Amino acid sequence: MISKKIKGRIVELKEKFPQRKSAILPALHLVLKEKNYVEKESLKEIAGLLELPPIEVFETASFYTMFPQKKVGKYHIQVCTNLSCSLLGAEELVKYLEEKLKIKVGETTPNGMFTLSTVECLGSCGTAPMMQINEDYYENLTKEKVDRILDDLLKKQI
Ligand code: FES
Repeated sequence: MISKKIKGRIVELKEKFPQRKSAILPALHLVLKEKNYVEKESLKEIAGLLELPPIEVFETASFYTMFPQKKVGKYHIQVCTNLSCSLLGAEELVKYLEEKLKIKVGETTPNGMFTLSTVECLGSCGTAPMMQINEDYYENLTKEKVDRILDDLLKKQI
């Protein structure tokens, strides 16, 4: 369920754009920011609030990997495995993350902290290999850099 506050903001978005369809992406971002994922029920709610056929919202959400439709960990690690990142070692980094976190791609650590995903190009090819964790980009990655990033995120919990 989307909160009352976010529902109100989605309705405001509807008035902001000449075509209601244009409000789909900002609405998805609002829900993502609130819940960290956008499940089927929320997609239907967005469609209702924007007065659009649900299929239009489903199509938009499923096109982008940035809108997970099932619950993810507190930190959603999305490693780009497209061409530039692959050429510079993305697959090796994915394996490293799987070993370090003791999960496979698509899984969440038992403590609910990390979910690991692979995604298509995130538009940061010049700083490959890279990953996105929630809304932040981490670039020019090495195993050492990955260690530091995860350590820093874990320290925030203490
Ligand atoms: S290929 Fe990885 S950001 Fe473009």
